[in-house]
Amino acid sequence: MQKGALLYEGKAKRLYATEDANLLISEFKDDLTAFNGAKKAQEQGKGALNNKISAELFKLLEANGVPTHFVSLLDENHMLHKKAKMIMIEVIVRNIATGSLSKNLGITEGTVLPFTLVEFDYKNDALGDPKLNDQHCLILNLVQDQSELEMLRTLARKVNDILRPYFAKKGLNLVDFKLEFGRDAQGNILLADEISPDNCRFWDMTTGEKMDKDRFRQGLGGLKVAYEQVLERIMGEDK
Ligand SMILES: Nc1ncnc2c1ncn2[C@@H]1O[C@H](COP(=O)(O)OP(=O)(O)OP(=O)(O)O)[C@@H](O)[C@H]1O
Ligand SMILES: [Mg+2]
Repeated sequence: MQKGALLYEGKAKRLYATEDANLLISEFKDDLTAFNGAKKAQEQGKGALNNKISAELFKLLEANGVPTHFVSLLDENHMLHKKAKMIMIEVIVRNIATGSLSKNLGITEGTVLPFTLVEFDYKNDALGDPKLNDQHCLILNLVQDQSELEMLRTLARKVNDILRPYFAKKGLNLVDFKLEFGRDAQGNILLADEISPDNCRFWDMTTGEKMDKDRFRQGLGGLKVAYEQVLERIMGEDK
């Protein structure tokens, strides 16, 4: 499948049309951004790692009954996937308190939450991705009705129920992650975008080391080595 016209360039990927109106190609870039684009860098090879990690996780989720946009891995930096009309909600799933949850609500970093928290943020860079409640989602027409919000929550919990034990067997604690959903040509809700250490937090279960984009946010260095480790553990034997 050949790349057609460039449709969109985001912070982490470029989206291209293909000869099939229902399929797109994502090119994963080496660019890194944090704090809504305020901090920027490049890390050679990061895009390829995220592409491969996402492909493996989409395959795993699809095999376990989660509908995803994934079609195939084309090469190092390119993924073929279904075209979706994106739902402009970032669905955030948290098992352990850290980041903005700790900052905003004063919950000590590393606190294991009494249940898995699912939150919605408005996917709107100009507004700084503000937090949404269900009524905000309906007022903004981000979904058709309340049942779609329940569907997003159910799917997000299902993804967590699959990924959390999967990573635990690989010695990684899945702390939290962000998902994006869209609708395919038939209107079915699909898991889209990417699932990578750019939008998941992984803590090594033995050392507690951060194995995700927090290495960049917090200036810890060693980002590429950490992402390589995540991919190696996905591809390797369980511990
Ligand atoms: N299957 C899909 N069909 C159409 N668009 C998609 C699909 N999957 C992801 N996208 C969108 O493609 C874009 C990917 O680019 P990227 O991840 O670089 O965006 P971004 O810079 O994170 O910012 P933003 O998501 O705010 O545009 C996102 O807008 C994402 O919502
Ligand atoms: Mg993105």
